[in-house]
Amino acid sequence: MGIEALLSGGKKRIDRELDRYLPRKGKLAKAMRYSVFAGGKRFRPVLCLATAKVLGRPEKKVLPFACAVELIHTFTLIHDDLPAMDNSDFRRGKPACHKVFGEAAAILAGDALNTLAFEIIADQPAAARELARALLTVVEGQAVDIESKKRKVSLADLKKIHSWKTAALFKACVRGSALICGASAAQIKALTKYAEHLGLAFQIADDILDVTATAEKIGKPVKADIGKGFPRLIGLEKSRTLAEQEKIKAISALKSFGGKADALRKIAEFYVLSK
Ligand code: IPE
Ligand code: IPE
Ligand code: MG
Ligand code: MG
Ligand code: MG
Repeated sequence: MGIEALLSGGKKRIDRELDRYLPRKGKLAKAMRYSVFAGGKRFRPVLCLATAKVLGRPEKKVLPFACAVELIHTFTLIHDDLPAMDNSDFRRGKPACHKVFGEAAAILAGDALNTLAFEIIADQPAAARELARALLTVVEGQAVDIESKKRKVSLADLKKIHSWKTAALFKACVRGSALICGASAAQIKALTKYAEHLGLAFQIADDILDVTATAEKIGKPVKADIGKGFPRLIGLEKSRTLAEQEKIKAISALKSFGGKADALRKIAEFYVLSK
C-alpha cells in the first residue's frame, strides 16, 4: 500500500470513531468538535494503527487508544495556542479555539478532551498509564518550553525540551499500542527507540517549517517559535541535517521487524520530509 492510501484510510477510520466518541450537545461539545475536526493530519493515531500492524494484530484493537491519543493531542494544541502560552490565533487552517469560543471555553474544551480520552481507555489500564505518564512529560516540556523564551538554552537543553513536549506522546503511541497488542519487551524497546527519534525529527521539522513555510501550508502562523526553535540555535542547514539524522535513526530501529514495519518506515519518510 502506498503512503497516501495508508494515511487517508487510517484518517477516515479515526475520524469516524472520533465522531462517535465526541459529545454533540452544548457549547462545550461544539468547541471540542471544532478543534478536533479542524483538519489535523492524524499523525499520532496513524502511528498507533501502524504499530498494531507491525505486531501482526488487527488495527481495530488499538482504535480506541488511537482516538484517545488524538483527543489528548488536540487538547495540548488548544492550550498551546492560548494567550498565556504561544498566543497563536490560527490552528489547523482555522481561527484557534479561543478566538472562536473565548478563552474560558477553550480551556474547558481542552480539559474535557483530556478527560474523555482517559474515559475511552479506562478498560486498558496499562496503556492508559503509559499515556498518562507521557502526558505529564508533555506538560513538563511545555512548561520548560515557555520558560526557554526568557533564557538561552544549549543544544542538549533544546533536544530535551523537544523530547519532552513532542517525542513523549509519540512514544506513548507506540508503547501503549504495543502493550494492548501483547508485544514482547524486545519489540517494545525497538518501537520506543523508533518513536523517540521520530518525535525529535518531527519537532525539529516543525521548527524548520515555522521559518520556511507559509501559513497557508502549515495552517498556523509562521515564525511563532522562531525565538526558541532549532533554526535559531544552530541554523537552518544544521537543523535539516539533524532532523534527517534522527529520521534515519528512527528507521534503523525497525530492522528486526523486517517487511512488517513498512508502514512505520513510510510514516517516518513522509512526515519528516514533506510534512
Ligand atoms: C503540531 O502537531 C504540534 C507539534 C508537536 C509540532 P502536528 O503537526 O501533528 O499537528 P496536526 O495534528 O496535524 O494539526
Ligand atoms: C507544541 O509545540 C507541542 C505541544 C502542543 C505539546 P509547538 O508550540 O511548536 O507547536 P505548534 O508550532 O504551535 O503547532
Ligand atoms: Mg508551543
Ligand atoms: Mg505553538
Ligand atoms: Mg511549532
